[in-house]
Formats: sequence, C-alpha cells, structure tokens
Amino acid sequence: MRLIALLLATLCLPAGAQEKSGAEVYNSTCSQCHSDGKDGAPIFGNHKQWGKLVREGLNELVPTALVGIRKMPARGGNPALSDGEVAGAVIHMANAGGGRFAEPTPADLARWRQKADRRLKK
Ligand code: HEC
Repeated sequence: MRLIALLLATLCLPAGAQEKSGAEVYNSTCSQCHSDGKDGAPIFGNHKQWGKLVREGLNELVPTALVGIRKMPARGGNPALSDGEVAGAVIHMANAGGGRFAEPTPADLARWRQKADRRLKK
C-alpha cells in the first residue's frame, strides 16, 4: 500500500508543480473581481479602463499585482500563486485590454520581484 501511495505521489508531483497559464490563473483567481469590476477593479477586456494601465506597462503592473494596492489584495488573495503565474495573469488581462505584451523572461521576473520587495520594505 505504502509503495503505491509513494508511486502515486511521485507521478502526481510534476503536474502539481507545473505553472498555470495566465488564462487559468485569471479564471481561478482574478476573475472574482476583474470580470465585473468588484471594488473598482479594472474590468477584463475593457480597453477604456485598461488603456492607462497598459501604457504604465508591466514594470508597474506586475509588482503592483504581487504586492497589492488598496482593495486589490497581494497576488489576488491567492498566496499559492508563483510570481510567474501572477505575471502571466497580468499579461493575460493587459493584452485583453489592448496591450501586446510577450511572455516574461527570467530577467523580467527577477526585476519585478526586486521592485515588489522594495515596495514591501517601505
Ligand atoms: C478581491 C478582488 C480582486 C481580486 C481577486 C484580484 N484583483 Fe486585481 N484589482 C482589484 C481592485 C479593486 C483593483 C483596483 C485597485 C485600485 O486602483 O484601487 C485591482 C487592480 C489590479 C491591477 C491594476 C493595478 C494598478 O496599477 O492600478 C492589476 C494589474 C491587477 N489588479 C491584477 C490582478 C491579478 C493578476 C489578479 C489575480 C492573480 C487580481 N488582480 C485579482 C481587485 C482584485
């Protein structure tokens, strides 16, 4: 029995450790507020509301999503999400709002992490 459990755990590990796509993270977490604009959240697909944010760019938006701002909770209130998953969801939303952002590189993620850490220290 124990051996089977171990085997199953091993087999399941890679799937569990895999990063979720931006769309998956949006659907499972961010859409709670961003689909209908709860608490003033910018609405998914609304180019008017996202235009200014798209112009600010990912260097602003991703650290903000990691740390939170006013009624927007850090990581959308889901601490299980990795930095890459949060960034993917931001890109998914920003592109639906008129942006044309590419997938982040490891250097992008490191820069956004640093910026988020600096804000947390304030
Ligand atoms: C509990 C509700 C809630 C959830 C869940 C949520 N957000 Fe938000 N979000 C907000 C609100 C409210 C704002 C507007 C904040 C403000 O400007 O006052 C916002 C704003 C933002 C912004 C714009 C920040 C800026 O610079 O103005 C981004 C980017 C963002 N959210 C990303 C995300 C991502 C990514 C997720 C999912 C991982 C997520 N949000 C989940 C409520 C939420």
